[in-house]
Amino acid sequence: MARASSVYVCQACGATHPKWAGRCDACGDWNTLIEEVTQPVAGRASRTRGRQVALTPLDGAVSPVPRRPTGIAEFDRVTGGGLVPGSALLVGGEPGIGKSTLLLQVAAAVSAEARCAYVSGEEAVDQIKLRADRLGLRASGVGLAAATAVRDIAALLAAPDGPEIMVVDSVQTLHLDALDSAPGTVAQVRASAHELIQVAKRRGAVLLLVGHVTKEGLLAGPKVLEHMVDAVLAFEGERGHQFRILRAAKNRFGATDEIGVFEMTDGGLMEVPNPSALFLAEREAGVAGSAVFAGIEGTRPVLVEVQSLIVPSPLATPRRAVVGWDGGRLAMVLAVLEARCGLALNSAEVFLNIAGGLRITEPAADLAVAAALASAESGVPLPPETVVFGEIGLGGEIRAVARTDARLKEAAKLGFGRAIVPARRGTTAAGMELLEVSHVSDLLRHIRPLGAEPLRRMARPESRHA
Ligand code: TYD
Ligand code: MG
Repeated sequence: MARASSVYVCQACGATHPKWAGRCDACGDWNTLIEEVTQPVAGRASRTRGRQVALTPLDGAVSPVPRRPTGIAEFDRVTGGGLVPGSALLVGGEPGIGKSTLLLQVAAAVSAEARCAYVSGEEAVDQIKLRADRLGLRASGVGLAAATAVRDIAALLAAPDGPEIMVVDSVQTLHLDALDSAPGTVAQVRASAHELIQVAKRRGAVLLLVGHVTKEGLLAGPKVLEHMVDAVLAFEGERGHQFRILRAAKNRFGATDEIGVFEMTDGGLMEVPNPSALFLAEREAGVAGSAVFAGIEGTRPVLVEVQSLIVPSPLATPRRAVVGWDGGRLAMVLAVLEARCGLALNSAEVFLNIAGGLRITEPAADLAVAAALASAESGVPLPPETVVFGEIGLGGEIRAVARTDARLKEAAKLGFGRAIVPARRGTTAAGMELLEVSHVSDLLRHIRPLGAEPLRRMARPESRHA
């Protein structure tokens, strides 16, 4: 006789434990274990032999993935060309970042060609209508519903004239009556999403799920869903900044390094076809501590400003704060500047910021960061209209990076006339003066002309040692 048994599931990381404990062994969080009852299906365990899985030769014909472009170019870029019928897509992001707005706009954009539904468990239908009013989308053919019961939503999706594209906002509000646990718990989120994804796949519909995540990317739900859906898009941005970035964290139907850039306005999210111009719009030229990095995001070159500030520190352990870049990588660049160029930075506070709220992961940003730091330290601005890119090794050597041409072309397009680049034979750029560097000390020579004194005194205040 099959017996119902309990497991305890961590609501933060999804790890299961046979016994309750105050602290999850897997992630170390406290008070996150919640009991879940697992009910073995009667009779299934006794079937010992399965049906043999059929194999297909690898070199067989491939049917192309049918796609439904939304017409919102930035969204299509990130999804790899549009929505794929029979797929599930999770859009994760912090509360208030703009997920509901984005997906209502997407639904409205595709509603001309497909039956479209927007099911919200967070807002009443009237609230969604008000938002649609603000976005100027009232005339679109999106069907609205306020529902949280998974069975009802699944029935809508499974109906013969059911939606071909359905937005469910958000997975944390869904409730499956077969489970005791509250909405938003791992068990509910996983089971609810599973149910809806099954129906969507069977029907060939597109399911767009919204999931809230906290700053750390945690909170029950989105993490445990990542393997169930075909694509995970992260919607990010700094609050108070008008830029929003849609990034593919996983995509079974496209590349994962693409980003889509949007600007938040009163009329909703506007596409930003040329992010470089926007990211550099508020830049002040001729300021020490600022360097323009020519980066690549996905297939597209993007220019952003790297800002740095260096001030003497009253603390025994000076602060290092970084926004938009990796703190470990900053420590490495600082160490290289100290060890290979003799810059005295260990008693200074160092702040680094990628302007505009973009998060950069490319090692090619090393040289731009080093340039911003060296310029901040010396108080001497970089040569005017200069972009920088290159990877720095621990020996201080500058390594070449991929897609040099695309970076230089974008810089030229935006009116930059000079580039500090890794020394490599054959690098040319029409109308661009190239300052080639093979070591970080070469970089310093471009920023601090020989003999220039650092403007800042890095000595600690005497009083602390008295
Ligand atoms: P919302 O889409 O509700 O965020 P989420 O679903 O991620 O919680 O957006 C939050 C608020 O910001 C909402 O009051 C509307 C406002 N907003 C704009 O005014 N313009 C915009 O372009 C966006 C994206 C949001
Ligand atoms: Mg919302």
